[in-house]
Amino acid sequence: MLTFEDESVQPEISLAKAMSPVMNDRDNSHAAADTAETIAGSANRRISVEDKQIINCNADVNQLVPFKYKWAWDKYLSACANHWMPQEISMSRDISLWKDPNGLTEDERRLIKRNLGFFVTADSLAANNIVLGTYRHITNPECRQYLLRQAFEEAIHTHAYQYIVESLGLDEGEIFNAYHEIPSIRDKDEFLIPFIDTLTNPHFKTGTLETDQQLLKSLIVFACIMEGLFFYVGFTQILTLGRQNKMTGAAEQYQYILRDESMHCNFGIDVINQIKMENPHLWTKAFREEITELMQKAVALEYRYAEDTMPRGVLGMNASMFKEYLRFIANRRCQQIGLDALYPNANNPFPWMSEMIDLKKEKNFFETRVTEYQTGGALSWD
Ligand SMILES: [Fe+2]
Ligand SMILES: [Fe+2]
Repeated sequence: MLTFEDESVQPEISLAKAMSPVMNDRDNSHAAADTAETIAGSANRRISVEDKQIINCNADVNQLVPFKYKWAWDKYLSACANHWMPQEISMSRDISLWKDPNGLTEDERRLIKRNLGFFVTADSLAANNIVLGTYRHITNPECRQYLLRQAFEEAIHTHAYQYIVESLGLDEGEIFNAYHEIPSIRDKDEFLIPFIDTLTNPHFKTGTLETDQQLLKSLIVFACIMEGLFFYVGFTQILTLGRQNKMTGAAEQYQYILRDESMHCNFGIDVINQIKMENPHLWTKAFREEITELMQKAVALEYRYAEDTMPRGVLGMNASMFKEYLRFIANRRCQQIGLDALYPNANNPFPWMSEMIDLKKEKNFFETRVTEYQTGGALSWD
């Protein structure tokens, strides 16, 4: 069971609410006031590294340097170096395969539609979580710089999923509503929504034990469970198709998305560990137990999604292989934030996924890209 210590900030678990333009009907004065106060309060004040903190920091957030968290800046630079756009990848082979009545089995088609059904809205939830939530509470400019880049990448991911749906001529209403209509997808999103709502609630402010723990919990859910676990059945499925020479355009898009997401997950984990280091009093036994329970619940939800997307064996995979894989990933996420492995001896049945995560920009990229970025020299005002 999920528990929330503070009734006043307990959000309603509702997808409808998560999708509404929350900032339109809520008071957003905190963020604006904070920025203005920071400028006024920091006049003639040069900041030093010691002034900086990840949360609850009063130092001027507009002074990017001197850097304290070089890892955040380095990730920002790496993310920019990994830039890609969905329309650079040709979907023509996918389109002919999808249109060929004998191109794919019914189980393969179900898997693809359920897969996109989750992802077309997941990255929009992720983007809202960053822009309307996390960003305000992370009071460090180099981390904010990465979050701005990450938010744009979430937009690119939503674009990529939309581009696949449009290319294949899928029923948009069906795919974009799957998170209401397909229980295995809805249950994952409903698990996430309360944590997103905590951060996007304009009345939520950090600075107490209770609210700092709520922030940390939401960051863990987002990085270690949403980006770090809930994406992995879906990524493995589409990349398996690609490895069998099916839906290769979609598979290439997912490879780039996977690379971005593994950086998002690692950045989130670095932030979580830094917050822990700066605020060790947050990491209580009760808090750790709560995180462990959430992780177990998330493994069960993702496994149910695996069963629903693969009711029978397909492409040499079956749902039970994912039980082991999800336990393996959950162990890794727990260890990355300093918790014990939850499922001793869990193995990775998909070792090739680890190689995919290490994908370098150069690999296959220039062979398949069909457009060039406009550089300064090529800039045209026409
Ligand atoms: Fe994403
Ligand atoms: Fe992400």
